[in-house]
Amino acid sequence: MPQSAPGARGLPLVGHLPLMILDPTKFLKGLTQRYGDVASFRLGRRPAVLINHPELINRLLRDRSCPRSDESRRALRSFLGDGLLSLEGPRHLRHRRLMAPAFHRQRIQHYGEVMCAETYAEIAGWQAGPQRDLREDMMRLTFAIVSKALFSTDTRDEARDVEHALQSILPWALLGAALGGVFPKLPVYYPRGSRAAIKRLHDVVLKIVARRREEGEDRGDLLSMLLETRDEDGSALSDEDVCAEALTLLLAGHDTTASTLTWAWHLLSQNPEVQDAAHEEVRRVVGERAITPEDVPKLELINQILSETLRLYPVVWMGDRVPDNDLELGGYHVAKGSSVFFCMYVTQRDARFFPDPRALRPRPLQP
Ligand code: HEM
Repeated sequence: MPQSAPGARGLPLVGHLPLMILDPTKFLKGLTQRYGDVASFRLGRRPAVLINHPELINRLLRDRSCPRSDESRRALRSFLGDGLLSLEGPRHLRHRRLMAPAFHRQRIQHYGEVMCAETYAEIAGWQAGPQRDLREDMMRLTFAIVSKALFSTDTRDEARDVEHALQSILPWALLGAALGGVFPKLPVYYPRGSRAAIKRLHDVVLKIVARRREEGEDRGDLLSMLLETRDEDGSALSDEDVCAEALTLLLAGHDTTASTLTWAWHLLSQNPEVQDAAHEEVRRVVGERAITPEDVPKLELINQILSETLRLYPVVWMGDRVPDNDLELGGYHVAKGSSVFFCMYVTQRDARFFPDPRALRPRPLQP
């Protein structure tokens, strides 16, 4: 039988939990530097393994007997409810099946048109000269896009409220996920302000759902689909499930894209020669007319810049899985029930896989 991965024991009782909470990327990077691509550590009493090789990560993610950990799902459930990000098993599959039509090719084409229209609406008021808070701009823009594309509603006014709510909720949810490794029964703690923020977040979505129910109209968007959809046995999603999925998509769809775009602007500001080349590409492919979704695949350099942005600043920068059975990974034995972590932030800055890893280097995308 293969041996266990090399690694560190950590402190009594808590193991490496304090390091994972205080500075996770520094801790995880140090672990791979010291022990290699498969390194063991401990979160409380639970054995944990960090893998740091694309092939191992790929294998883990394709393995259906390795679901996401209860802790990370419980933390998400504590403020999102039972949506795609927090469900596993048959309920996850059911929701995936019911929501799949919203992500068919022709719907994506429609979302592309919404993205173009909303972007032109956003920049219409911009002027050269004054400084802008691009993070705020991008949050407003992506929130408007997700709301329009998925709920056919304009929520620009609510964007700032949602952003503030998330800022006060996410640190506690992350802490709850980390502590869950040591105290699996401990509920995720939120101070009063964050509990109020969770309520505000739910109110935003409830308002959107209530508005649609009042209108009683099928707009052909995700929300109509969630409200109308039926299983083979005729059963529908409950109101709670509809809200959880709407909230999940609102969060998953706008914070991720806003952060990625903000980092892309940052990288371009630091790399003027790449910025010039990107402008040149837009002039060549689009010229003076309005941009359309059909232009996107032709904007090769811009696609490469976004890919590099996701490499250098991955907004989802860590993930974990918990194998249902004993596994062999990279020649090491991983016991069932261990937490297996992968950290995109560390792996994507590894010079073995990306030469000159800290630099913005647009490179051909793999098909
Ligand atoms: C830059 C943009 C984005 C990034 C980097 C990103 C990243 C990710 C990652 C890494 C996961 C897998 C998490 C795991 O299994 O551990 C995920 C799941 C998910 N994402 Fe995104 N995402 C982005 C944009 C979006 C958008 C625009 C939407 C929807 C409008 C979305 C909806 C979801 C949903 C629903 C899931 C859960 C899927 C499932 O478990 O069935 N994401 N995302």
